[in-house]
Amino acid sequence: PIEKRVDDLLARMTLEEKILQLNQYTMGRNNNVNNIGEEVKKVPAEIGSLIYYDTNPTLRNNVQKKAMEESRLGIPIIFGYDAIHGFRTVYPISLGQACSWNPELVEKACAVTAQEARMSGVDWTFSPMIDVARDPRWGRVAEGYGEDPYANGVFAAASVRGYQGDDMSAEDRIAACLKHYIGYGASEAGRDYVYTEISAQTLWDTYLLPYEMGVKAGAATLMSSFNDISGIPGSANRYTMTEILKERWGHDGFIVSDWGAIEQLKNQGLAASKKEAAVYAFNAGLEMDMMSHAYDRHMKELVEEGKITMAQIDESVRRVLRVKFRLGLFERPYTPTTTEKERFFRPQSMDIAAQLAAESMVLLKNENGLLPLVNKKKIAVIGPMAKNGWDLLGSWCGHGKDTDVAMLYNGLVTEFAGTAELRYALGCNTQGNNRKGFEEALEAARWSDVVVLCLGEMMTWSGENASRSSIALPQIQEELAKELKKAGKPVVLILVNGRPLELNRLEPISDAILEIWQPGVNGAVPMAGILSGRINPSGKLAMTFPYSTGQIPIYYNRRKSGRGHQGFYKDITSDPLYPFGHGLSYTEFKYGTVTPSVTTVKRDGSLSVEVSVSNTGKRDGLETVHWFISDPYCSITRPVKELKHFEKQLIKAGETKVFRFDVDLERDLGFVDGNGKRFLEIGEYYILVKDQKVKIELID
Ligand code: IFM
Repeated sequence: PIEKRVDDLLARMTLEEKILQLNQYTMGRNNNVNNIGEEVKKVPAEIGSLIYYDTNPTLRNNVQKKAMEESRLGIPIIFGYDAIHGFRTVYPISLGQACSWNPELVEKACAVTAQEARMSGVDWTFSPMIDVARDPRWGRVAEGYGEDPYANGVFAAASVRGYQGDDMSAEDRIAACLKHYIGYGASEAGRDYVYTEISAQTLWDTYLLPYEMGVKAGAATLMSSFNDISGIPGSANRYTMTEILKERWGHDGFIVSDWGAIEQLKNQGLAASKKEAAVYAFNAGLEMDMMSHAYDRHMKELVEEGKITMAQIDESVRRVLRVKFRLGLFERPYTPTTTEKERFFRPQSMDIAAQLAAESMVLLKNENGLLPLVNKKKIAVIGPMAKNGWDLLGSWCGHGKDTDVAMLYNGLVTEFAGTAELRYALGCNTQGNNRKGFEEALEAARWSDVVVLCLGEMMTWSGENASRSSIALPQIQEELAKELKKAGKPVVLILVNGRPLELNRLEPISDAILEIWQPGVNGAVPMAGILSGRINPSGKLAMTFPYSTGQIPIYYNRRKSGRGHQGFYKDITSDPLYPFGHGLSYTEFKYGTVTPSVTTVKRDGSLSVEVSVSNTGKRDGLETVHWFISDPYCSITRPVKELKHFEKQLIKAGETKVFRFDVDLERDLGFVDGNGKRFLEIGEYYILVKDQKVKIELID
């Protein structure tokens, strides 16, 4: 019935009305109730979409009323917004979420985001971001799910399910948008917006995979990327937008450009004018123009000149209308009025925030079992992140406010109430040269039994257009750590950051290191719970921590080299400081022998592999098993190993659980070539789990 309704409507639309459906403007920035009328006036009644920066349903409803009542056909506007890791209840950054290896939990967090957004007048989020990212200098690594293509795909699918549910028209669901299509994560040297050099092979096996998985999960829309891919900009790329996405994968929703990306085709040297840029983008398959004003200004003329066809316009409008119908906007164009209290920080949403934060935290180091802190009566809490709200939110934090955030110091106060005395000292600011606070901090350290040192990055140091040339913490913070060491007390380093960091100078002076990322509104309590031992840490890195910035790019699934190793440096190790998958627990897990169902399997046969994991420690714990494959000989060079499956389970102390990987032979052992064609070659394969590998023979 939706297709029939789309066709009926399309048949009644004029060219001008169709063109406006393909444009997105903005509203709600710096709005206050007194200028709602002005905001409404600015927006054409026939506009297809708006980015909506407010949380007030009234403004949306006023504009929507104009669309419904003043436009000839009453087509509702779709309101979009960047709710990346939460709308107002802000969750850990996506890179942290990935370290939880818990897609079900991520799905639940996205469902809360959807509910808060839809109740606030937003129908569509520009999320998930699933750009595989291997250069931590790039500020946007915070927004994605790390360096592994498959992991990005699993979290993409989980996010899509969380946002859209089974039925996007439900009053607590929204449309998802996979972004940035495609290859944006490969921006040269981690500089934002710039060129990417991606071979056809890598495009397919690394960058497209998560998008394919997100599309399969039903993502309603995608956003085209700013970068060019080996010479063709993502926003003018017919191969990726039309041939792959629509023709091969059968996607029937629409693509929106990134902000001004169509106009930027001029800067990229593809188009001589905005009008020409519109032709390139539109004919490549890009349906909606975000803020370039290229389609609204030039499309009519371009149709008259025969550079754009009516058939293509109809096809594009059809895609936009289809999503609007699926969202139920024609039936329910308006957002019911509710209070903020009814929408945000519901107890269940806050519980999910705490659980996701807890599971995203990664215990990187724990020398001599310093953690959990037992019998410590005096705790010095020091550093620029200890009493800090903003920086815990992370970049693209939706409508999050610093006052919403539980601060680390407060979390520790609550956690250790009655068991330890706390003393706070700032020590230093996040950056700068001011050492004035060092003395007070050293004094607090001398007084204490243990120092909890909270260091990190400002929230503005990651996210869009926030790349860094060095991924170390500013020198002043490293100096503070060194200074505190003079007190001779054990140091627990708590890290708040939006990217993997260079820790080679901080690591030797820290007895324990807990990576808490930018944990969102409810991260302080779980952090403190890990320190006290109430929570057993379970996060594992979804992105490699290099030994130093000079090693970048460094990631686990590099292609094999002729010498069989990853290359050497004269001055530093070639190993990362903390590899992909690293993360400690307070308990011990002992792995049994990895056992395949068969060791020789036919192409049309079936294969599963199991491993039992026993918790031999004294505490219950969550363990994630990562299943990798490695193909020793193949007609292309393949990565040393590739993640194909992961599973997380709670294993009680003394208990044993079985983890299982049902191998999809074609998908898991095979590969795609640079044309996207799948191959499955007979011969040997290895299945790897931790330090074990089992050989499988694939035969005809
Ligand atoms: O969604 C974002 C995108 O990720 C970066 N540029 C702006 C868009 C809309 O805010």
